Amino acid sequence: MTNLKKMTVAASGKLRQVAYDILNENTKLLSWQQGGRVPAEQFDAWLAEAEGLYSIGNIKVDEALLAKAPKLKVIAQASVGYDNIDIAACTARGIAVGNTPGVLVDAVADLAYGLILDSARSIARGWQHVESGKWGEHKGLGFGVDLAGKILGIVGLGDIGSAVVPRAQASKMQVVYHNRHQRADEAELGVRYASFDELLQTSDFVLVTVNLSPATAGMFNSEAFTKMKPTARFVNISRGQVVDTMALHDALRDGQIAYAAIDVVEPEPLPGDHPLLTLPNITVTPHIAASTVETRDAMAKLAAANILAGLAGEPLPAQVKPKD
Ligand code: DGY
Repeated sequence: MTNLKKMTVAASGKLRQVAYDILNENTKLLSWQQGGRVPAEQFDAWLAEAEGLYSIGNIKVDEALLAKAPKLKVIAQASVGYDNIDIAACTARGIAVGNTPGVLVDAVADLAYGLILDSARSIARGWQHVESGKWGEHKGLGFGVDLAGKILGIVGLGDIGSAVVPRAQASKMQVVYHNRHQRADEAELGVRYASFDELLQTSDFVLVTVNLSPATAGMFNSEAFTKMKPTARFVNISRGQVVDTMALHDALRDGQIAYAAIDVVEPEPLPGDHPLLTLPNITVTPHIAASTVETRDAMAKLAAANILAGLAGEPLPAQVKPKD
């Protein structure tokens, strides 16, 4: 039986306590619990010894990093998205990669629904209005729009998109979706398939929940925004790189679409002087969709379980398949 206690695990940032406790008890853990990024030199020294890598945030796990970590057997990304990891390079080296699907679905769906509501009702803008002493000056804030009777178009109807559906239906919205393949359970979910163009042209709210891949990078470009209704609201909780940021800026500035409420953006973090932040018709949250106490703990536990399984040479509880 493998003695995990002798096996080294490096973490690229501060671990949540639950993951720290599991990994510290069962492995030789090297982690940076004071917060922030591990200094580069220190991290390189850890990588040289590491059999497991607990990857937090968007550190680039590419050929250059893997070359510094010749003993790696397993990488656990503490998020569902793993676009920061070169899966083909890991596969070629026999390194298993795990992520954290499932456990964050409700938290992310809640924030997506919250951003849909915000884009319709100016919740964040309303607060800014009051905070700056403008209560009573109705000019500038304007009226919102109802969700009831409106069409929500979901681009990328996977687990998270599917969890948004009943939330939207509770607000009496109709839901259409676009995926590469039509879903067999459409009727059960109460959704209708639409081509990408039809979805853009007919939706009152467009929600993006696709994975970032070569096929989806930049799919929301100026051509896509031109096809949307001038009253449309655009919501993104997937990855910023799915959107051409300046095309979104121009579409909002020129009234091609009415509002955007986004939790992800390219670049992250968004600099305080970015042109997007000069617009009156956008809400940006700082990539917090999965950031609840319960969900972050569940993600950390799953990532730790992925590490332990990988070190023991077993299939990971949530293993990324090379073709994904
Ligand atoms: C994920 O898990 O990929 C989320 O974006 C993290 O916040």
